[in-house]
Amino acid sequence: MRSNGWWRTAAIYQIYLRSFADGNGDGVGDLAGLRARLPYLRDLGVDALWLTPWNVSPMADGGYDVADYRDIDPLFGTLADAERFLAEAHEQGLRVLVDLVPNHCSDAHPWFRAALAAPPGDPARARFWFSPGRGADGELPPNDWTSYFGGPAWTRLPDGEWYLHMFAPQQPELNWEHPGVRAEFEDVLRFWFDRGVDGFRIDVAHGLMKTPGLPDVGAAPDPADLPYQDHDGVHEIYRAWRAIADSYEDPRVFVGEVWLPTTAQFVRYLRPDELHSAFNFEFLCCAWEPNAIRKTIDDTLDTHRLVGAPPTWVLSNHDTIRHVTRYGREDTTFDLGNRRHGAFTDPVLGVRRARAAAMLTLALPGGVYVYQGDELGLSEVEDIPLDRIQDPTWERSSHTDRGRDGCRVPLPWSGDASPFGFSSPGSSSSPSLSSSADSSSSADSSSSAGLSSPGSSSLPSSQEPWLPQPASWAALTVEAQEADASSMLHLYRAALALRNARLVSLPEEITWLTSDDGVLSFRRGDGFACVVNFTAAPARLPEHAAVLLSSEPVVDGLLPADGCAWLAV
Ligand code: NOJ
Repeated sequence: MRSNGWWRTAAIYQIYLRSFADGNGDGVGDLAGLRARLPYLRDLGVDALWLTPWNVSPMADGGYDVADYRDIDPLFGTLADAERFLAEAHEQGLRVLVDLVPNHCSDAHPWFRAALAAPPGDPARARFWFSPGRGADGELPPNDWTSYFGGPAWTRLPDGEWYLHMFAPQQPELNWEHPGVRAEFEDVLRFWFDRGVDGFRIDVAHGLMKTPGLPDVGAAPDPADLPYQDHDGVHEIYRAWRAIADSYEDPRVFVGEVWLPTTAQFVRYLRPDELHSAFNFEFLCCAWEPNAIRKTIDDTLDTHRLVGAPPTWVLSNHDTIRHVTRYGREDTTFDLGNRRHGAFTDPVLGVRRARAAAMLTLALPGGVYVYQGDELGLSEVEDIPLDRIQDPTWERSSHTDRGRDGCRVPLPWSGDASPFGFSSPGSSSSPSLSSSADSSSSADSSSSAGLSSPGSSSLPSSQEPWLPQPASWAALTVEAQEADASSMLHLYRAALALRNARLVSLPEEITWLTSDDGVLSFRRGDGFACVVNFTAAPARLPEHAAVLLSSEPVVDGLLPADGCAWLAV
């Protein structure tokens, strides 16, 4: 494990825990499954893991609705399992970041339950945003804000008051002006840092503070000036958190989920006494087109240089359309507000571009994120039967947006048919067996939302995965790709190994090289160059000593269409 500053160059693998590996056969991924697959992650060559929420949750939004921040949901295991997992990951040389959800909690959280039990105006309601409505009888919401998942951002209670939720109604928005909220989260940080967590990914990092008075946004809101995001007061929160992270002998780190329209806003979160890094969504949303990509890379490097933060690169995550699918479309951009489900995609082109994009991101300076399944070249699953959809977006959008389930389908590990080795029912070597008895779970989680039955303490028969896997994934299992030297998995392994050996020690700068139209080439340090051919025809490589790796076979110095090559120069 690299020590101080490891995060500046880390390759971080995102574990969407529900869909990574199921160790107890209930059809939902868990800590037992993850622990059993740690050698796979070590061999892949990543430096760290980021786990999506593992806390006690009713799973109204896949765990982003937390009922107990200091315990593990029984669907995933126990606190003891989490501690074992942390120790084992560290033994394998892997750091661990976990998700922190501070913008909102679950409606099952004791604070919200107490607030509901209290009358209007009671201090128990002050940790949230409760308000009387507008209109003669308070029958209209307190303002015109809409939820990111669709519909109004307010829900009315039988006592007439409304409460704010920028996401699902089961995710009440916390009031960060309340000192008790601040104290609680500082304590939660220490709770997990003391157990060995190396850092946090901060959910909705730009959203915690609101403009006082919660003013209307109006008919034509300015996306760069919204009353529910990027309020100046949020920076003080991260300064306090940074001091806590820095107080550890092995300093802990933060990566922010900061979706903001301008880089000027974004970069303020990365000042030296705030967050260490943030996801580069500008790059994720960018078209697969050379001028746009070059501009985004330049903007990213320039912006991060201003504050001394490392750039990051990300192609997909659990909220987006998998990039194999996106890059096979005519319009290769991504827009959170319009996923364009079902748009025609050319799967062969998408895979070729995804291979090149993986190599490009791994060649650039800074940190890089790999979403589980990227390394297998998985595409978006666009035909999940409507009655199997779990994402709250589907209901909240009045069935106009299928949401994000298509990128959350459980991973295919082996075999010819679903569950493709995802579930290992009752294996006596399952690490969960030894730990199920010593659960220290305390909260009354009701893991509902239509998922398979919760609980890891008994051995269920193997259930089908919580989302259906396409039959075509037989060709994409880890097992199948292990046996194919030209697979996406082998490409990722080779690229990560080379990156570790040759690139992470280089300065955080690139030098663009002159290249033909439709081709991007840059150099890092004295001996390395990366060339990406965005055109549909082969491109001649610049002078080089050797081809270190290429996403398509290089013949006679020609880089095929949609290819990327790493060169020793
Ligand atoms: C961002 C998370 O990535 C997403 O999955 C979640 O639904 C929202 N934040 C709300 O927590």
